[in-house]
Amino acid sequence: MAVLIDGKAVSAKVKAQVAQETEELKAKGVCPGLAVVIVGDDPASRIYVNNKKKACAAAGIYSEEHALPGDTTQEELLDLIDTLNKREEIHGILVQSPLPKGLDEAAVVEKIDPQKDVDAFHAYNVGKIMQGKYTFLPCTPAGVIELIKSTGVDICGKQCVVIGRSDIVGKPMAMLLLHENGTVTVCHSRTKNLGEICKSADILVSAVGKAHFVTGDMVKPGAVVIDVGMNRDENGKLCGDVEFSEAEPVAGYITPVPGGVGPMTIAMLLKNTLTAARLQNRLGS
Ligand code: GUN
Repeated sequence: MAVLIDGKAVSAKVKAQVAQETEELKAKGVCPGLAVVIVGDDPASRIYVNNKKKACAAAGIYSEEHALPGDTTQEELLDLIDTLNKREEIHGILVQSPLPKGLDEAAVVEKIDPQKDVDAFHAYNVGKIMQGKYTFLPCTPAGVIELIKSTGVDICGKQCVVIGRSDIVGKPMAMLLLHENGTVTVCHSRTKNLGEICKSADILVSAVGKAHFVTGDMVKPGAVVIDVGMNRDENGKLCGDVEFSEAEPVAGYITPVPGGVGPMTIAMLLKNTLTAARLQNRLGS
């Protein structure tokens, strides 16, 4: 039976640390500030944004929401980013994805000042991640690294398999594991022998977005299994990519869904906002 990796507990620790450091920064006259931009009325995005605002408040971080209607034009959105880029008390800008059809998300991300890009989605920050010289760590992959480290398993020299090659999770995830000296394989929809490759993994990270994708026979005995998936099964129940009931008896460590990776993403966002506030005020990194 696998040890359950408790994302809520690990994220609580990170949040407590951020709250303490936020207080110290406030004592120096700087209150970290995050602007969250949401366009349209996607229900999942609304929940994410509410959770981000709540987490900021709990950590003592100032946040403000810019909720724009679904028919907002590209120009209006870029104008808002421009205004937020110029405001000194706003250190981080997050544009909730996905944007409504018709808006060019890539152009919006590129408009954000890289120093305020707390998602680490801007090409400048993506390049920094490639070089291993990060200012901001991409929130979900950084959260996954924290979860792996919480198990005590050393990533160095391990076979790491990432399933999924998205810009937000798969690609930066592979890069962070590489920086931790893992031997990294990235699998995707065209990969041959996917099951066999997964079974060779000491550390398996699934970021596919498909329920029941990772079955028990794809897991190496004793492996660390991290499930980034956030899906609904046939009964509408929240689930990850990993068939938990099959993988759990085989794995050494495994994340549940919910309560695994999810809580970590917001904790890392808070950490990035704090870092942004420090850097913009030349008060360390
Ligand atoms: N939509 C789903 N996850 C994320 C995230 O981490 N950042 C942003 N901006 N949008 C998202």
